[in-house]
Amino acid sequence: MRSPLDSPFSPGSDTVPQVWAGRTSQLSDWRDVLRPRRSAGLYERGRIVLGEAGSGKSSLVRRITREASQAGDWVTPQLRIPSGTDPVKRVAAALLEVAQQAGLATARERRIGELLRRVESVAASGVSLSLRPGSGPEPYTALTELLTEIGRAAIRRGDIVVIIHLDEVQNIGDEDARSQLLIALGDALVHEEGVEAPGGLRVERALPIAVYLTGLPEFAVMAGARTGATFARRFQTTTLGPLDDDSLRAALQPFVTEGWPVLGATGAGPAEVGRVFMEPAAQQAIVERACGEPFLFQLAGERAWYAGGGQLITAEQVQAGWREAAPEAEAHVQRILDRLPPREHQFLETMAELAPGERTLTMIARRMGYDQATDAGPTAQRLQLTRGLIHRGKPYRFHHRAIEAYLTSSWPWS
Ligand SMILES: Nc1ncnc2c1ncn2[C@@H]1O[C@H](COP(=O)(O)OP(=O)(O)OP(=O)(O)O)[C@@H](O)[C@H]1O
Ligand SMILES: [Mg+2]
Repeated sequence: MRSPLDSPFSPGSDTVPQVWAGRTSQLSDWRDVLRPRRSAGLYERGRIVLGEAGSGKSSLVRRITREASQAGDWVTPQLRIPSGTDPVKRVAAALLEVAQQAGLATARERRIGELLRRVESVAASGVSLSLRPGSGPEPYTALTELLTEIGRAAIRRGDIVVIIHLDEVQNIGDEDARSQLLIALGDALVHEEGVEAPGGLRVERALPIAVYLTGLPEFAVMAGARTGATFARRFQTTTLGPLDDDSLRAALQPFVTEGWPVLGATGAGPAEVGRVFMEPAAQQAIVERACGEPFLFQLAGERAWYAGGGQLITAEQVQAGWREAAPEAEAHVQRILDRLPPREHQFLETMAELAPGERTLTMIARRMGYDQATDAGPTAQRLQLTRGLIHRGKPYRFHHRAIEAYLTSSWPWS
């Protein structure tokens, strides 16, 4: 027991981690607002979940879609959009799969057969289809129509919601493809379907469809989410910040109180062979090192698990494990800083050089060599609103605690 084979920690994978922390407001948004409203035929915007690398965007929406799919909802697999590929093709292919699940592929209606063939050609040719002479309507209209049909099938089936999850949306660099896709999804979200209510009354309802887009904060700028383009207004954007220490502590509490069950395989399937415990001091040591970063939390946990073989994870093991993890932890933060435009990077470094009480826009701007404080204003605004890395209070504070620790202390090396 307690070998690398049975570690429940999963740094660097966007599967749903076994040791899950926080994100309760996002999970409750799905369970208490988005799903019930769309299911009841009420309009509710799509969701755009943005955040820096490793903030847990993919895991969050994968958890939501996994639960939904287990409960019988129709879900696209997580559609990761690789850079430089045509996202319209990907989405068309995924919708065809959901159509299959919805039983549309076997529908005898001619109209549906023709629609499926149109979407098949979109899946083959993608956004370029519209460039061919005489190719008919734009590809996105076929996607909207198919989504609408899937939504209708979900209404007929009863209490089913369809979820579309597009990941790494910042890779949709082509503006035409991006707007076709957002319009197709947005149009399906605003579509009103006439249905017969009890008593024979005709009423309009929204389709039971939910859309999640996840990716890096740059997407907000690319898609005009902050400038108010029509399709952007059909989505609600949230930026994931760090996890708070209480949630991280709570996630590790089962190790402290009842032990984490370790499963071994027997002839009859997996069976519990033992439990791994954690000293409270070890729990605290992991929380402190993670600085609220989901990825670093998994990393610290994994390294502590690997640092010994016994039934108890100790604070010394956390420390020993972290020494090995430090280069990776540093690379994680450095990667986030390196991706920033030079001014934003410089802004953070300047903030870090000042004592916490001195971090005002005036002081930061002066030190950066600006004539007026307002000249640094747009940079500060982007760092808060687009990236969620700082808080522009009085004084300014870091929101990304790992960046703060890295720039102002010897973390992750101590
Ligand atoms: N709520 C959570 N609690 C605990 N660990 C989490 C949580 N969310 C994500 N993680 C872990 O954090 C790491 C990063 O998660 P994920 O890949 O989902 O991030 P991401 O924001 O999609 O990153 P990227 O921008 O690189 O795609 C993974 O190891 C995952 O297991
Ligand atoms: Mg991801």
